[in-house]
Amino acid sequence: MKGILLSGGTGSRLRPITHTGPKQLVPVANKPVLEYAIEDLKEAGITDIGVVLGHKGRDAIQELLGDGSKYGVDITYIVQGEPLGLAHAAGCARDFVGNDDFVMYLGDNILKSGIAELVESFERGDYGAGIALQKVDDPQAFGIADVDDDGNAIQLVEKPEDPPTNLALIGMYVFSPAVFDAIDDLEPSWRGELEITDAIQLLLEDGYEIDSQVVTGWWKDTGKPTDILEANRLVLEDKELETAGVVEDGAETEGRIGLAESATIEDGAVVRGPVSIAENVTIKHGTYVGPYTSIGANSTLEDIHIENSVVIGDSTLSASGRIVDSLLGRNADVESADELLPEGRRLVVGENSQLKL
Ligand code: TTP
Repeated sequence: MKGILLSGGTGSRLRPITHTGPKQLVPVANKPVLEYAIEDLKEAGITDIGVVLGHKGRDAIQELLGDGSKYGVDITYIVQGEPLGLAHAAGCARDFVGNDDFVMYLGDNILKSGIAELVESFERGDYGAGIALQKVDDPQAFGIADVDDDGNAIQLVEKPEDPPTNLALIGMYVFSPAVFDAIDDLEPSWRGELEITDAIQLLLEDGYEIDSQVVTGWWKDTGKPTDILEANRLVLEDKELETAGVVEDGAETEGRIGLAESATIEDGAVVRGPVSIAENVTIKHGTYVGPYTSIGANSTLEDIHIENSVVIGDSTLSASGRIVDSLLGRNADVESADELLPEGRRLVVGENSQLKL
């Protein structure tokens, strides 16, 4: 069994963060989303992995993952270029996959319980594909499957007006190489993409059985800023966090705190976990870091209150205000406007930024 990890796409819903890098490298609990996928594949026994790249952030992804040896896997890079759809991305991996079965994993997805069950279930039968499903409240927004009592899919529809079930396809699939012929027969959908849901429906119509697994643990597609915050919260809730750095006398800490060795919580700071604080971060006097916050490397926080937020890194935050539910890109600096007020606040804001002042 091989794996393909889709790391192309536009990432338009995650702008401005994705103006300067691919969304698959956005950190959740201080680890790029893509690394969670590599770990899940490895855990399912899949070490031969093709990483499908788009135009954006190709170099950064290759720089991070390298040849895969640091994760104990073997990585081959496949260039898709234009994001012409999930089925198109899979089709680009045809030579890499050859005659093997393969897992297709969306590189911006993250899930609690990994993919081992999905892979094992697929391997127990003679299936054309295996799909992971999860109950959702808004089935009109997803690819939806109808399944029989044995868990075999009997119909798939992309974003149906009248959904047959509320079981949505989530970003993990297993395929036999038969999917490549189905992909060859696809026509672009109304949004101009080759849809993987349509390819699976074609397999079904060609007589292949489609296995399905309902995933019960949490699953998150990290496509939007609010999704990143939620994924960060879910991971911090579950993750073991180790305090390796310095907590000075007079600092107040409570709950689980991940503190990198070179990070410091100084006298007069308050940190309430679960929180993840990366290398070379200093949490200075007068700062409050509240639950479900991740602070990326090389950042300094002073006199600020921050909670339920992700700071990607290389940032200076020093203001008397409260920052909540926020995603701050690399090198973002937030300073106090106290000296400017009441005249007004001063901003240098990039394209597609969102501010609530
Ligand atoms: P999406 O989130 O559906 O697409 P996107 O990245 O273009 O995002 P947006 O809608 O915000 O512009 O993609 C899901 C995953 O699949 C993601 O990791 C990107 C990847 N992908 C490809 O590799 N190639 C493609 O052609 C598409 C559409 C997505």
